[in-house]
Amino acid sequence: MGREDVFMWIEENLLGKTQPHTLILYGQRRMGKTSTLYQLVGGKRGKTIREYPGYPIYPVYIDLQSLAGCDMPEFFERLSHQIVRVLARRQINVAVPDSWSKNGSIYNDFDQFLDRVEDSLPENGLLVLIMDELEQLQVSVENGRLSDDIFPYLRSLMQHRTRMTFILAGTNQLVEDFWSIIFHVGISREIVSLDQKETEKLIREPVSPMIQYDDLAIDRIWLATRGHPYFSQLICHRLISATNLEGKKSKTITIADVREMIDQVVNEDDSHLQHLWNESSSEEQFVLTALAGHELAEESVPRAEIASRLREAPFDEDALHAALKMLELRRLVTRQPVERQIQRRLAQPGVWQPTLVSKDYAYSIAFDLLRVWVARKHPLGSMLSVV
Ligand SMILES: Nc1ncnc2c1ncn2[C@@H]1O[C@H](COP(=O)(O)OP(=O)(O)OP(=O)(O)O)[C@@H](O)[C@H]1O
Ligand SMILES: [Mg+2]
Repeated sequence: MGREDVFMWIEENLLGKTQPHTLILYGQRRMGKTSTLYQLVGGKRGKTIREYPGYPIYPVYIDLQSLAGCDMPEFFERLSHQIVRVLARRQINVAVPDSWSKNGSIYNDFDQFLDRVEDSLPENGLLVLIMDELEQLQVSVENGRLSDDIFPYLRSLMQHRTRMTFILAGTNQLVEDFWSIIFHVGISREIVSLDQKETEKLIREPVSPMIQYDDLAIDRIWLATRGHPYFSQLICHRLISATNLEGKKSKTITIADVREMIDQVVNEDDSHLQHLWNESSSEEQFVLTALAGHELAEESVPRAEIASRLREAPFDEDALHAALKMLELRRLVTRQPVERQIQRRLAQPGVWQPTLVSKDYAYSIAFDLLRVWVARKHPLGSMLSVV
Protein backbone atom coordinates (compact mmCIF):
# COMPACT_ATOMS: atom_id res chain seq x y z
CA MET A 1 0.00 0.00 0.00
CA GLY A 2 2.68 2.50 0.97
CA ARG A 3 1.59 6.08 1.70
CA GLU A 4 2.96 5.88 5.22
CA ASP A 5 3.52 9.65 5.19
CA VAL A 6 -0.10 10.30 4.33
CA PHE A 7 -1.41 8.00 7.04
CA MET A 8 0.86 9.63 9.61
CA TRP A 9 -0.36 13.03 8.53
CA ILE A 10 -3.98 11.93 8.90
CA GLU A 11 -3.23 10.37 12.25
CA GLU A 12 -1.51 13.45 13.60
CA ASN A 13 -4.30 15.74 12.54
CA LEU A 14 -7.19 13.58 13.61
CA LEU A 15 -6.29 11.94 16.86
CA GLY A 16 -6.38 13.51 20.25
CA LYS A 17 -7.31 16.96 18.98
CA THR A 18 -10.01 18.93 20.70
CA GLN A 19 -11.03 20.33 17.37
CA PRO A 20 -9.50 18.46 14.45
CA HIS A 21 -8.94 20.22 11.18
CA THR A 22 -10.71 19.42 7.99
CA LEU A 23 -8.24 17.45 5.88
CA ILE A 24 -8.14 17.80 2.13
CA LEU A 25 -6.47 15.22 -0.10
CA TYR A 26 -6.12 16.24 -3.69
CA GLY A 27 -4.23 14.84 -6.62
CA GLN A 28 -4.28 13.70 -10.20
CA ARG A 29 -6.62 10.98 -11.33
CA ARG A 30 -5.59 7.43 -10.35
CA MET A 31 -2.95 8.61 -7.93
CA GLY A 32 -4.54 6.62 -5.14
CA LYS A 33 -6.81 9.01 -3.25
CA THR A 34 -9.72 6.60 -3.04
CA SER A 35 -7.46 3.64 -2.19
CA THR A 36 -6.03 5.62 0.70
CA LEU A 37 -9.48 6.52 1.98
CA TYR A 38 -10.61 2.88 1.74
CA GLN A 39 -7.68 1.88 3.91
CA LEU A 40 -8.76 4.42 6.46
CA VAL A 41 -12.38 3.25 6.46
CA GLY A 42 -11.86 -0.49 6.46
CA GLY A 43 -8.34 -1.50 5.52
CA LYS A 44 -5.52 -2.97 7.52
CA ARG A 45 -3.40 0.18 7.55
CA GLY A 46 -6.30 2.26 8.84
CA LYS A 47 -6.93 -0.01 11.80
CA THR A 48 -4.56 1.69 14.22
CA ILE A 49 -6.18 5.01 13.39
CA ARG A 50 -9.74 3.75 13.69
CA GLU A 51 -9.06 1.96 16.93
CA TYR A 52 -6.70 4.35 18.61
CA PRO A 53 -7.07 3.75 22.36
CA GLY A 54 -9.25 6.32 24.00
CA TYR A 55 -10.12 8.14 20.79
CA PRO A 56 -12.53 6.04 18.77
CA ILE A 57 -13.02 7.22 15.24
CA TYR A 58 -16.10 6.65 13.12
CA PRO A 59 -15.23 7.13 9.49
CA VAL A 60 -18.13 7.42 7.05
CA TYR A 61 -17.22 7.19 3.38
CA ILE A 62 -19.35 9.01 0.84
CA ASP A 63 -18.70 8.94 -2.88
CA LEU A 64 -20.33 12.18 -3.97
CA GLN A 65 -20.54 10.89 -7.52
CA SER A 66 -23.06 8.34 -6.36
CA LEU A 67 -25.21 11.24 -5.09
CA ALA A 68 -24.93 13.10 -8.39
CA GLY A 69 -28.63 13.06 -9.25
CA CYS A 70 -29.88 14.00 -5.79
CA ASP A 71 -31.74 17.18 -4.96
CA MET A 72 -31.36 18.81 -1.55
CA PRO A 73 -33.69 16.58 0.53
CA GLU A 74 -32.39 13.40 -1.14
CA PHE A 75 -28.81 14.48 -0.67
CA PHE A 76 -29.13 15.03 3.06
CA GLU A 77 -31.30 11.98 3.50
CA ARG A 78 -28.74 9.69 1.91
CA LEU A 79 -25.96 11.34 3.85
CA SER A 80 -27.83 10.73 7.10
CA HIS A 81 -28.61 7.13 6.19
CA GLN A 82 -24.98 6.45 5.49
CA ILE A 83 -23.96 7.90 8.85
CA VAL A 84 -26.64 5.92 10.66
CA ARG A 85 -25.56 2.69 8.95
CA VAL A 86 -21.93 3.08 9.93
CA LEU A 87 -22.78 3.92 13.53
CA ALA A 88 -25.25 1.04 13.80
CA ARG A 89 -22.51 -1.40 12.85
CA ARG A 90 -20.70 -0.23 15.93
CA GLN A 91 -23.71 -0.44 18.20
CA ILE A 92 -24.58 3.23 18.20
CA ASN A 93 -28.18 3.80 17.27
CA VAL A 94 -29.42 7.11 15.99
CA ALA A 95 -32.64 7.68 14.09
CA VAL A 96 -32.70 9.44 10.74
CA PRO A 97 -35.08 12.38 10.50
CA ASP A 98 -38.51 11.06 9.32
CA SER A 99 -38.96 13.85 6.86
CA TRP A 100 -37.02 16.72 5.44
CA SER A 101 -38.43 20.21 5.35
CA LYS A 102 -38.60 21.74 1.96
CA ASN A 103 -36.15 24.52 1.23
CA GLY A 104 -34.47 26.61 3.86
CA SER A 105 -34.72 24.46 6.92
CA ILE A 106 -33.16 21.32 5.52
CA TYR A 107 -29.95 22.58 7.08
CA ASN A 108 -31.80 22.93 10.32
CA ASP A 109 -33.04 19.34 10.13
CA PHE A 110 -29.58 18.07 9.37
CA ASP A 111 -28.13 20.12 12.23
CA GLN A 112 -30.56 18.54 14.66
CA PHE A 113 -29.67 15.12 13.34
CA LEU A 114 -25.97 15.86 13.82
CA ASP A 115 -26.63 17.06 17.35
CA ARG A 116 -28.16 13.69 18.13
CA VAL A 117 -25.25 11.90 16.47
CA GLU A 118 -22.70 13.87 18.46
CA ASP A 119 -24.60 13.21 21.67
CA SER A 120 -24.57 9.48 21.02
CA LEU A 121 -20.84 9.15 20.45
CA PRO A 122 -18.78 7.77 23.31
CA GLU A 123 -16.31 9.96 25.12
CA ASN A 124 -13.71 11.40 22.74
CA GLY A 125 -15.49 9.74 19.83
CA LEU A 126 -15.16 11.50 16.52
CA LEU A 127 -17.32 11.21 13.44
CA VAL A 128 -15.23 11.60 10.29
CA LEU A 129 -17.22 12.39 7.20
CA ILE A 130 -15.11 11.39 4.23
CA MET A 131 -16.31 12.98 1.01
CA ASP A 132 -14.67 11.66 -2.12
CA GLU A 133 -15.03 13.20 -5.61
CA LEU A 134 -15.76 16.58 -4.08
CA GLU A 135 -15.90 18.28 -7.52
CA GLN A 136 -19.26 16.64 -7.97
CA LEU A 137 -20.74 19.23 -5.58
CA GLN A 138 -19.78 21.98 -7.98
CA VAL A 139 -21.42 20.11 -10.85
CA SER A 140 -24.59 19.51 -8.86
CA VAL A 141 -24.78 23.16 -7.86
CA GLU A 142 -24.19 24.28 -11.42
CA ASN A 143 -26.92 22.08 -12.82
CA GLY A 144 -29.31 23.26 -10.15
CA ARG A 145 -29.75 20.04 -8.18
CA LEU A 146 -28.13 21.49 -5.09
CA SER A 147 -28.39 25.00 -3.77
CA ASP A 148 -25.17 27.01 -3.75
CA ASP A 149 -25.50 27.87 -0.08
CA ILE A 150 -24.43 24.30 0.58
CA PHE A 151 -20.82 25.54 0.48
CA PRO A 152 -21.07 28.05 3.31
CA TYR A 153 -23.19 25.51 5.17
CA LEU A 154 -20.54 22.81 4.90
CA ARG A 155 -17.92 25.30 5.88
CA SER A 156 -19.83 26.22 9.00
CA LEU A 157 -20.01 22.52 9.92
CA MET A 158 -16.27 22.28 9.45
CA GLN A 159 -15.65 25.24 11.66
CA HIS A 160 -18.11 24.72 14.45
CA ARG A 161 -18.76 21.04 15.00
CA THR A 162 -16.46 19.67 17.66
CA ARG A 163 -17.17 15.94 17.52
CA MET A 164 -17.25 15.69 13.81
CA THR A 165 -14.73 16.46 11.15
CA PHE A 166 -14.24 16.08 7.42
CA ILE A 167 -11.79 14.50 5.06
CA LEU A 168 -12.35 15.78 1.54
CA ALA A 169 -10.83 14.34 -1.60
CA GLY A 170 -10.79 15.30 -5.21
CA THR A 171 -8.63 16.20 -8.16
CA ASN A 172 -6.33 19.19 -8.46
CA GLN A 173 -9.37 21.28 -9.35
CA LEU A 174 -9.76 21.76 -5.61
CA VAL A 175 -6.81 24.12 -5.68
CA GLU A 176 -8.69 26.48 -7.97
CA ASP A 177 -10.43 29.64 -6.81
CA PHE A 178 -13.88 28.16 -6.90
CA TRP A 179 -13.04 25.99 -3.92
CA SER A 180 -11.26 28.55 -1.80
CA ILE A 181 -14.24 28.88 0.55
CA ILE A 182 -13.72 25.26 1.56
CA PHE A 183 -10.03 24.86 0.84
CA HIS A 184 -8.93 27.55 3.23
CA VAL A 185 -10.67 26.18 6.29
CA GLY A 186 -8.79 22.91 6.02
CA ILE A 187 -5.26 21.73 5.71
CA SER A 188 -4.42 20.08 2.49
CA ARG A 189 -2.01 17.61 1.06
CA GLU A 190 -1.37 16.54 -2.49
CA ILE A 191 -1.28 12.82 -3.22
CA VAL A 192 1.63 12.27 -5.56
CA SER A 193 3.45 9.26 -6.93
CA LEU A 194 5.09 6.79 -4.57
CA ASP A 195 8.80 7.04 -3.90
CA GLN A 196 11.26 4.47 -5.17
CA LYS A 197 11.31 2.38 -2.00
CA GLU A 198 7.55 2.27 -1.74
CA THR A 199 7.26 1.34 -5.38
CA GLU A 200 9.66 -1.53 -4.94
CA LYS A 201 7.62 -2.77 -1.99
CA LEU A 202 4.42 -2.47 -3.96
CA ILE A 203 5.97 -4.62 -6.70
CA ARG A 204 7.63 -7.28 -4.58
CA GLU A 205 5.59 -7.82 -1.46
CA PRO A 206 2.23 -9.03 -2.76
CA VAL A 207 3.78 -11.94 -4.68
CA SER A 208 6.88 -12.81 -2.69
CA PRO A 209 8.33 -15.42 -2.26
CA MET A 210 6.70 -17.41 -5.09
CA ILE A 211 7.37 -14.75 -7.67
CA GLN A 212 10.59 -12.76 -7.51
CA TYR A 213 11.75 -9.83 -9.55
CA ASP A 214 15.38 -9.36 -10.39
CA ASP A 215 16.82 -5.94 -9.64
CA LEU A 216 16.99 -4.79 -13.23
CA ALA A 217 13.33 -5.62 -13.69
CA ILE A 218 12.50 -3.46 -10.69
CA ASP A 219 14.60 -0.61 -12.07
CA ARG A 220 12.86 -0.84 -15.40
CA ILE A 221 9.40 -0.60 -13.81
CA TRP A 222 10.56 2.36 -11.74
CA LEU A 223 11.81 4.10 -14.86
CA ALA A 224 8.55 3.41 -16.66
CA THR A 225 6.25 4.68 -13.92
CA ARG A 226 8.34 6.75 -11.49
CA GLY A 227 6.06 5.49 -8.78
CA HIS A 228 2.75 6.26 -10.44
CA PRO A 229 0.64 3.81 -8.45
CA TYR A 230 -1.88 2.98 -11.12
CA PHE A 231 0.66 2.30 -13.86
CA SER A 232 2.97 0.37 -11.54
CA GLN A 233 0.05 -1.76 -10.48
CA LEU A 234 -1.08 -2.24 -14.08
CA ILE A 235 2.32 -3.51 -15.22
CA CYS A 236 2.64 -5.82 -12.21
CA HIS A 237 -0.86 -7.22 -12.62
CA ARG A 238 -0.14 -8.09 -16.20
CA LEU A 239 3.19 -9.66 -15.35
CA ILE A 240 1.60 -11.82 -12.68
CA SER A 241 -1.29 -12.89 -14.92
CA ALA A 242 1.17 -13.85 -17.64
CA THR A 243 3.16 -15.90 -15.14
CA ASN A 244 0.01 -17.64 -13.98
CA LEU A 245 -0.94 -18.40 -17.57
CA GLU A 246 2.39 -20.09 -18.08
CA GLY A 247 1.28 -22.39 -15.31
CA LYS A 248 4.43 -21.84 -13.32
CA LYS A 249 4.33 -21.89 -9.57
CA SER A 250 7.41 -19.80 -9.10
CA LYS A 251 9.38 -17.56 -11.34
CA THR A 252 11.88 -14.75 -11.43
CA ILE A 253 10.66 -11.90 -13.57
CA THR A 254 13.42 -10.34 -15.65
CA ILE A 255 13.93 -7.05 -17.41
CA ALA A 256 13.00 -8.73 -20.71
CA ASP A 257 9.59 -9.68 -19.27
CA VAL A 258 9.09 -6.14 -18.10
CA ARG A 259 10.07 -4.65 -21.46
CA GLU A 260 7.62 -6.87 -23.24
CA MET A 261 4.85 -5.96 -20.83
CA ILE A 262 5.50 -2.23 -21.17
CA ASP A 263 5.21 -2.70 -24.89
CA GLN A 264 1.88 -4.42 -24.48
CA VAL A 265 0.54 -1.76 -22.15
CA VAL A 266 1.50 0.96 -24.61
CA ASN A 267 -0.16 -0.86 -27.48
CA GLU A 268 -3.20 -2.45 -25.90
CA ASP A 269 -3.96 -1.21 -22.45
CA ASP A 270 -3.49 2.50 -22.84
CA SER A 271 -6.87 3.93 -21.91
CA HIS A 272 -5.48 6.04 -19.07
CA LEU A 273 -2.54 7.21 -21.18
CA GLN A 274 -5.05 8.17 -23.82
CA HIS A 275 -7.07 9.96 -21.15
CA LEU A 276 -4.05 12.00 -20.07
CA TRP A 277 -3.51 12.97 -23.70
CA ASN A 278 -7.15 13.89 -24.25
CA GLU A 279 -7.12 16.10 -21.19
CA SER A 280 -4.21 18.06 -22.63
CA SER A 281 -4.67 21.25 -24.62
CA SER A 282 -3.35 21.34 -28.14
CA GLU A 283 -0.29 23.31 -26.96
CA GLU A 284 0.34 20.78 -24.21
CA GLN A 285 0.11 17.98 -26.74
CA PHE A 286 2.71 19.67 -28.93
CA VAL A 287 5.03 20.09 -25.98
CA LEU A 288 4.65 16.46 -24.94
CA THR A 289 5.45 15.42 -28.45
CA ALA A 290 8.53 17.63 -28.58
CA LEU A 291 9.71 16.16 -25.27
CA ALA A 292 9.04 12.56 -26.20
CA GLY A 293 11.77 12.50 -28.83
CA HIS A 294 12.48 9.09 -30.25
CA GLU A 295 11.16 6.02 -28.62
CA LEU A 296 14.47 4.63 -27.48
CA ALA A 297 16.18 7.74 -26.22
CA GLU A 298 15.20 8.94 -22.82
CA GLU A 299 16.10 12.54 -22.66
CA SER A 300 15.69 15.81 -20.94
CA VAL A 301 15.32 18.74 -23.26
CA PRO A 302 16.47 22.31 -22.59
CA ARG A 303 13.88 25.03 -23.01
CA ALA A 304 15.53 26.55 -26.03
CA GLU A 305 15.61 23.17 -27.72
CA ILE A 306 11.89 22.66 -27.12
CA ALA A 307 11.18 26.01 -28.71
CA SER A 308 13.36 25.13 -31.64
CA ARG A 309 11.65 21.77 -32.15
CA LEU A 310 8.31 23.57 -32.11
CA ARG A 311 9.33 26.40 -34.43
CA GLU A 312 6.63 25.44 -36.88
CA ALA A 313 3.93 24.89 -34.31
CA PRO A 314 1.00 27.31 -34.42
CA PHE A 315 1.66 29.22 -31.20
CA ASP A 316 4.17 31.63 -29.73
CA GLU A 317 6.74 31.25 -27.00
CA ASP A 318 4.45 32.58 -24.26
CA ALA A 319 1.95 29.88 -25.03
CA LEU A 320 4.78 27.36 -24.92
CA HIS A 321 5.79 28.47 -21.44
CA ALA A 322 2.21 28.39 -20.24
CA ALA A 323 1.86 24.84 -21.56
CA LEU A 324 5.06 23.73 -19.85
CA LYS A 325 3.87 25.21 -16.60
CA MET A 326 0.52 23.50 -16.86
CA LEU A 327 2.12 20.13 -17.65
CA GLU A 328 4.34 20.51 -14.63
CA LEU A 329 1.33 21.24 -12.45
CA ARG A 330 -0.38 18.18 -13.86
CA ARG A 331 2.72 16.18 -12.94
CA LEU A 332 3.20 15.01 -16.51
CA VAL A 333 6.44 16.90 -16.98
CA THR A 334 9.36 17.49 -14.64
CA ARG A 335 11.88 20.27 -14.73
CA GLN A 336 15.56 20.22 -13.83
CA PRO A 337 17.80 23.24 -13.51
CA VAL A 338 20.76 23.23 -15.88
CA GLU A 339 23.65 25.59 -15.97
CA ARG A 340 24.54 26.81 -19.35
CA GLN A 341 27.91 28.33 -19.94
CA ILE A 342 27.81 31.16 -22.33
CA GLN A 343 31.14 31.71 -23.98
CA ARG A 344 32.02 35.24 -24.86
CA ARG A 345 34.45 36.01 -27.55
CA LEU A 346 37.15 38.37 -26.34
CA ALA A 347 38.74 41.10 -28.35
CA GLN A 348 41.66 38.97 -29.40
CA PRO A 349 40.83 36.58 -32.21
CA GLY A 350 40.42 32.97 -31.21
CA VAL A 351 40.20 33.53 -27.47
CA TRP A 352 37.10 32.44 -25.56
CA GLN A 353 36.25 33.14 -22.01
CA PRO A 354 33.74 30.79 -20.42
CA THR A 355 32.53 33.07 -17.69
CA LEU A 356 28.83 33.72 -17.88
CA VAL A 357 26.72 31.02 -16.39
CA SER A 358 23.05 31.33 -17.07
CA LYS A 359 20.47 29.35 -15.16
CA ASP A 360 18.14 27.52 -17.43
CA TYR A 361 15.83 24.58 -17.26
CA ALA A 362 15.52 21.30 -19.03
CA TYR A 363 12.28 19.37 -19.12
CA SER A 364 11.33 15.76 -19.44
CA ILE A 365 8.17 13.70 -19.50
CA ALA A 366 7.52 12.57 -15.96
CA PHE A 367 7.51 8.82 -16.56
CA ASP A 368 8.83 6.77 -19.40
CA LEU A 369 5.64 4.87 -20.12
CA LEU A 370 3.95 8.10 -21.13
CA ARG A 371 6.99 9.21 -23.10
CA VAL A 372 7.12 5.99 -25.09
CA TRP A 373 3.38 6.14 -25.70
CA VAL A 374 3.58 9.70 -27.01
CA ALA A 375 6.61 8.93 -29.16
CA ARG A 376 4.84 5.96 -30.67
CA LYS A 377 1.32 7.33 -31.08
CA HIS A 378 1.99 10.99 -31.74
CA PRO A 379 5.45 11.50 -33.21
CA LEU A 380 6.53 15.10 -33.74
CA GLY A 381 6.70 14.80 -37.52
CA SER A 382 3.09 13.72 -37.79
CA MET A 383 1.91 16.41 -35.33
CA LEU A 384 3.61 19.17 -37.30
CA SER A 385 2.49 17.89 -40.67
CA VAL A 386 -1.13 18.49 -39.64
CA VAL A 387 -0.43 22.16 -38.94
N1 LIG B 1 -0.94 2.79 -2.70
C1 LIG B 1 -1.36 1.96 -3.66
N2 LIG B 1 -0.97 0.68 -3.65
C2 LIG B 1 -1.37 -0.15 -4.63
N3 LIG B 1 -2.12 0.20 -5.67
C3 LIG B 1 -2.54 1.43 -5.72
C4 LIG B 1 -2.20 2.39 -4.72
N4 LIG B 1 -2.75 3.56 -5.05
C5 LIG B 1 -3.41 3.36 -6.20
N5 LIG B 1 -3.29 2.09 -6.61
C6 LIG B 1 -3.83 1.53 -7.87
O1 LIG B 1 -4.26 2.60 -8.69
C7 LIG B 1 -5.64 2.51 -8.97
C8 LIG B 1 -6.27 3.88 -8.89
O2 LIG B 1 -6.28 4.32 -7.55
P1 LIG B 1 -7.48 5.18 -6.93
O3 LIG B 1 -8.78 4.78 -7.50
O4 LIG B 1 -7.32 5.12 -5.46
O5 LIG B 1 -7.07 6.61 -7.45
P2 LIG B 1 -7.83 8.00 -7.28
O6 LIG B 1 -6.77 9.00 -6.95
O7 LIG B 1 -8.97 7.88 -6.35
O8 LIG B 1 -8.31 8.26 -8.77
P3 LIG B 1 -9.56 9.12 -9.29
O9 LIG B 1 -9.18 10.57 -9.21
O10 LIG B 1 -9.71 8.67 -10.72
O11 LIG B 1 -10.74 8.79 -8.43
C9 LIG B 1 -6.19 1.53 -7.95
O12 LIG B 1 -7.23 0.77 -8.50
C10 LIG B 1 -5.00 0.64 -7.65
O13 LIG B 1 -4.92 -0.39 -8.63
MG1 LIG C 1 -10.99 8.18 -6.57
